[in-house]
Amino acid sequence: MNKIFKILIVAVLALSTFGCFQGAPKKKPPIHLIKNMDTQGKVKPYRASNLFENGSGMRMPVEGTVARGLLKDDEAYYFGKTSTGDFVKKSPVTFTTAVLNRGQDRFNIFCVPCHGELGDGKGPITNYKYPIPPTSYHDDRLRNVPDGELFNVVSNGIRNMPSHKEQIPVPDRWAIVAYVRALQRSQNAKLTDIPANQQQNIK
Ligand code: HEC
Repeated sequence: MNKIFKILIVAVLALSTFGCFQGAPKKKPPIHLIKNMDTQGKVKPYRASNLFENGSGMRMPVEGTVARGLLKDDEAYYFGKTSTGDFVKKSPVTFTTAVLNRGQDRFNIFCVPCHGELGDGKGPITNYKYPIPPTSYHDDRLRNVPDGELFNVVSNGIRNMPSHKEQIPVPDRWAIVAYVRALQRSQNAKLTDIPANQQQNIK
């Protein structure tokens, strides 16, 4: 082997080991000879694109598109309304003991600060000059409003009451409606609501 050849081998070895300064910071992107599909031209959200007439890379969803899992096709359940837009008289959710317990739990978190534990409108907020006193549930008008209307008040608020649809999911809103109904009965109980054999114990 001649001398030059040996030097060449040493030089190539040295270069391949230290020559690239692996790990050293570089300003330019690395040379990438064979790209395969490592980098591809693609449209990213909000980028312009010449392909479409309006110059936007993003496309409008086809009219009537519904995101997966967000189809609210049950008017009664999701909005408390019938197909003609009236409030449903009876809740589409059956008021079981479990539903009532859940309703009590949620009511105590979300409604008590304003409406009070009994729903008489005397929650702690009344000590802090809330501009409009929260309504008591215990009058004939509210006893007779359809379940769907109560659901709507919780969902969208009413006049000075804020909406709660962002913080309370639909099933919990119905559970709260169930509990409001229980509160209304509890504050308006008649002697005949008590079993006959217990009635004489009540004075
Ligand atoms: C921030 C205080 C506040 C909270 C929290 C609140 N309410 Fe109210 N609510 C009010 C006020 C104030 C009114 C009276 C609104 C008015 O007439 O201007 C009201 C009115 C109502 C009414 C009567 C609606 C009508 O037809 O007149 C119902 C029913 C009701 N609230 C239910 C609830 C329930 C159930 C919750 C819990 C999910 C709740 N509210 C949470 C303040 C509140």
